[in-house]
Amino acid sequence: MITMPKRFGMFIHWGPYAIPAWHEQIRMRQGIGRAEYAAMAADFAPEKYDPEAWVKLAKEAGMEYICFTAKHHDGFCMWNTAETDFNIMKTGGRDVLAELAEACRKHDMALSLYYSIPDWNHPCGYNELSTHQCMPEPGDTPDSEAYRAYVRAQVKELLTGYGPIYTWFWDIPPKIDDPSMNDYVRSLQPGILINDRGWSEGDFSTPERSVPDGDTFPRYTEACQSVGQYSWGYREAEEYFTPAFLARSIDKIFLMGGSYLLNVGPDRDGVIPEPAAEIVRTVGRWYLSVREAFACGAEPESEWKCSAVWAARAGERLYLHTKAPLISTGLSLAPLDTMPESAVLLNTGEPVECVLETYPEDYTGTFGVNRPPVLRLRNLPAADNGMPLVIRLLY
Ligand code: GLC
Repeated sequence: MITMPKRFGMFIHWGPYAIPAWHEQIRMRQGIGRAEYAAMAADFAPEKYDPEAWVKLAKEAGMEYICFTAKHHDGFCMWNTAETDFNIMKTGGRDVLAELAEACRKHDMALSLYYSIPDWNHPCGYNELSTHQCMPEPGDTPDSEAYRAYVRAQVKELLTGYGPIYTWFWDIPPKIDDPSMNDYVRSLQPGILINDRGWSEGDFSTPERSVPDGDTFPRYTEACQSVGQYSWGYREAEEYFTPAFLARSIDKIFLMGGSYLLNVGPDRDGVIPEPAAEIVRTVGRWYLSVREAFACGAEPESEWKCSAVWAARAGERLYLHTKAPLISTGLSLAPLDTMPESAVLLNTGEPVECVLETYPEDYTGTFGVNRPPVLRLRNLPAADNGMPLVIRLLY
């Protein structure tokens, strides 16, 4: 199985779009002009920003890295850049990325950076080949070469001024081929991993808000999903996913060898809204209880036939993951028909009762042939709030 060095991370979408609290792409989606957006962004001066609180929340959930939106599509820069005035120093007077990098360093949390290729503030940024564009404004001079020079200058600031960066997350493929951009990123931080949304293929794939089919990923993969259904940035009227829904997709992605970025959008002050923080904690508790199943290098069983569970094997250990919330306290593992030496429910750490039995429905009557016994798990906690159960069988 192909796995990236770190499995579970926190995605953080934060910028002036937290002020209207609607969606991170509000400027494009609501057709807001550049000057009007800039006037709104001028009030972006987060006062309660406490990056250590973010890092501690991520730690609590067992996350190993944070991927932060250094620049989203609006073009607003969350660090002290010399390349544009449209940045956090001019509105809030503090380099929030530097503070985050410091908090990460202090708590041994890796840091990754998200950098949007669409840039609705740069006069050269418009790219007719790409999605997520705002139409150029009077005086703009779309120019891909000139824009790439700007990007390179910012990449240099980001990759030389904020310590080691674990992964580089380009967003929105420009549909222009230019491998020199990734070469440049790598020249500044040779160990960095680069995603697949830039000017060339990159090191890892990034399925978004979805769980691809299959047993394993053919290359490095980092899936991403937000705790909220409608926005990555802070949304006041957000409808949050259930922890069970999120945990189920995380479970499958991890089973396939992928990594997972779970996103939150802090509010205008930099505070992660409590419902989002609570989801991270709940998913994190689940993850920490079952993490062994992913950390042990278990390989998915591709020939597995029991439809109720996914299965992965590591030597004599077989890990079973329920695919759906239990409908009763028992689980049939047909066609499995041998007793394990032991069975443990990782979610609780408790032993699981196993029986080899032919159940009434499989007795065919006096003159028929009864079906052979199959392995059953009994007295499982049905009231599990729908979180995936992970059972370790030892053979
Ligand atoms: C999409 C969205 C963008 C978001 C990203 C996260 O590409 O356009 O707003 O940041 O997904 O992966």
